[in-house]
Amino acid sequence: MTSTTPTIRLADLRLERGGRVILRDVTLTAPHGSVTAVLGPSGSGKSTLLAALTGELVPAAGTVELFGQPVPRATRPLRELRKNIGVLLQGNGLLTDLTVAENIALPLRAHTRLPDALIDQLVDLKLNAVGLRTAEDLYPRELSGGMARRVALARALALDPPLMLYDEPLTGLDPIASGVIMSLIRRLNDSLGLTSIIVSHHVHETLPVCDQALVIANGGLVFSGTPAQLEASEDPLLRQFLRGTPDGPIPFDSAASARAA
Ligand SMILES: Nc1ncnc2c1ncn2[C@@H]1O[C@H](COP(=O)(O)OP(=O)(O)O)[C@@H](O)[C@H]1O
Ligand SMILES: [Mg+2]
Repeated sequence: MTSTTPTIRLADLRLERGGRVILRDVTLTAPHGSVTAVLGPSGSGKSTLLAALTGELVPAAGTVELFGQPVPRATRPLRELRKNIGVLLQGNGLLTDLTVAENIALPLRAHTRLPDALIDQLVDLKLNAVGLRTAEDLYPRELSGGMARRVALARALALDPPLMLYDEPLTGLDPIASGVIMSLIRRLNDSLGLTSIIVSHHVHETLPVCDQALVIANGGLVFSGTPAQLEASEDPLLRQFLRGTPDGPIPFDSAASARAA
């Protein structure tokens, strides 16, 4: 891979679940170093798109390339690829009976044979990167929502993955914690030389930290461009989505209406 190879390349992707088409004709390029927002109403297929990136969901048609290579299907090469992908899932996934430091050390213990002293140093480094140096001995129940999200972020970064995927990183956070998480995502992306995808329905919090934005709705890509182009769009569907109003070209609950269809 050269520095000009895009980190992510999706071409004419069709994703199905339970025999139903969730997304069709998705084409996307995410250059190395970029932050991309994947926006869309609840149930539009954002998490499904992430599942195709991690190889968890095999596309019904089209291609997914990461780091210039097609995502492998065989277990072993897929497991190797996944070490290069940091994923922050909606629920944080912290283990409640482990301390913050032990939680962050987990992936290092599972995937490396580094000595304990070095693992401790790496944990310190990650905690420092998310601004939580003093929290290492706390348990998850002792953390605020924003702190817990930052610990989960530190753990996702533990193996230094060049690609970070964030699934709804603002869920359950107040506006101040949301701002902290979003600027942290951007800062880590730039200082560590990563490429990031942020899946979110929080348009106004997400757009300011992104280089490009996609909007998915009604089974496909309805916008792809810069945040400024999105904000300036006169398209009624995009206007409805940006304003967050229930009446318009996007059904209020696209999952429910798809089931009813
Ligand atoms: N494992 C699954 N099996 C069948 N259908 C699924 C599965 N996961 C999600 N879906 C359906 O796919 C659609 C998109 O879901 P999802 O990608 O989770 O949306 P989003 O993340 O945008 O809220 C929804 O209609 C959902 O019900
Ligand atoms: Mg989702």
